[in-house]
Amino acid sequence: MATSKQDSGPFDLTIRNGRIGNADGTRFADIGVRDGVIVAIEQGLPAGKEDVDATGLWLLPGGIDSHTHIEQLSGMGVMCADDFYSGTVAAAFGGTTTILSFCAQHRQDRIPDVLADYAQRAKEKAVIDYGFHLILANPDEQALVHDLPRIIKDGITSLKVYMTYDKLKLDDYQLLDVLAVAGEQSAMVMLHAENHDMIRWIAKRLLERGHAAPKYHTIAHDALAESEATNRAIALSRLVDVPVLIVHVAGEETVDIIRKAQQLGAKVFAESCPQYLFLEASDADKLGMEGAKFCCSPPPGDKASQEAVWAGFKDGTLSVYSSDHAPYRFDASGKLPKGDATTFKEMANGVPGIELRLPLLFSEGVMKGRLSIEEFVALTATNHARMYGLAPRKGAIAVGADADVALWDPACKVVVDAAMLHDRVGYTPYEGRELQGWPVRVYSRGRCVVKDKELQVERGSGQFIARTRPEPMIDRKPSAGRGLFSGLVGLKNPFSGK
Ligand code: URP
Ligand code: ZN
Ligand code: ZN
Repeated sequence: MATSKQDSGPFDLTIRNGRIGNADGTRFADIGVRDGVIVAIEQGLPAGKEDVDATGLWLLPGGIDSHTHIEQLSGMGVMCADDFYSGTVAAAFGGTTTILSFCAQHRQDRIPDVLADYAQRAKEKAVIDYGFHLILANPDEQALVHDLPRIIKDGITSLKVYMTYDKLKLDDYQLLDVLAVAGEQSAMVMLHAENHDMIRWIAKRLLERGHAAPKYHTIAHDALAESEATNRAIALSRLVDVPVLIVHVAGEETVDIIRKAQQLGAKVFAESCPQYLFLEASDADKLGMEGAKFCCSPPPGDKASQEAVWAGFKDGTLSVYSSDHAPYRFDASGKLPKGDATTFKEMANGVPGIELRLPLLFSEGVMKGRLSIEEFVALTATNHARMYGLAPRKGAIAVGADADVALWDPACKVVVDAAMLHDRVGYTPYEGRELQGWPVRVYSRGRCVVKDKELQVERGSGQFIARTRPEPMIDRKPSAGRGLFSGLVGLKNPFSGK
């Protein structure tokens, strides 16, 4: 791995005397960077044009946050508080150097128009690198036959589909259509798995009885809604033998279902988020409307669910840790469209977390001995890169990779206060938490993005990253076990025309 390219002139940047942490191990070595790329990793490198002494610091791959809602109109028609500037600035201050954000199709929208619109806005504003997933709300023939193959070729190699929300929900038939095309075109399907009818059935009864406060959101989104939908999503994925990634896993039973499916050989992957490690159902049970600040879907569960999510991260059942940053202000623009009269069905779903995602896990996971530094890096960067076609360019400190490096000070103590954060939400569900360990300096493609608590780069300096095939889609062989399509040999595939 160690390569010397000192004969090509001085490095643009040398980061010396730090301890490098990768998903496959740690070592003390210096990092030499030229033209935004890591070109040397070895001890005793000469000083670069920018020379950084990282004594006492961890040098970790910049975080990849593969689940962020930025400048996006939600399924309920609510605009996020963060645009691509504030969202990416907040990400960078929290040690993240790449985000994957959603381009949301609403049912009447043309997919190329949706993507062009998000691409333009991100290009003007983002300060770190970014890629997109498509939220697909209308898998009609135009989408399945024409648009998806085209956007996947253009580097948008993943899409999210929903099993709930009136304006986004796909039925099982549609999900099978989407999975089949994703399988052919080598894209990753992310699934929001909740049983729509269970939720609306409970919600209707709660509202009829006058139970409208935020805490009833948790009751309406019973853990069974998540586990049932997850089980069904896995069955659909197995039926067509196409991998699937269940996003924002919250419940104990859901983690168990995913683990068992994986043990049976199902190609199911899963993500969880800070809110399922660090928040609880009881947080939504606050006086007045305060609980709305803690409401997301699926909702956080109890202590046992938190432990199940920790265990899922530890044993690999859950392989990516993302923020699901869904920034909605505590006012009429977001959580409270009808002020104090807002019912739990009317408030925007989601919690912010793009800046605190990594510090929370570093403090509670690494510093408290629940996770090794290797596990931390895998969950926060490397696995995202592999899962979503960013590797080997992103997700590791390696020769040839982009110089996306966060310098973490394990001794730095921070008490969380919404005022110190860089998003535009105005509150944080993690207010008052005492954290140990902080990314004190952040580099993206060798550019210093954050230093001395100040942003160092211009708006629009982030780059769109066209992604390659997600690793689970590479060398995929039809499962011998199911042989689903064996009876169809000789028949034309209706989507590919083959
Ligand atoms: O409540 C959540 N998670 N809101 C964000 C949208 C989504 O479904 O990820
Ligand atoms: Zn979702
Ligand atoms: Zn989300």
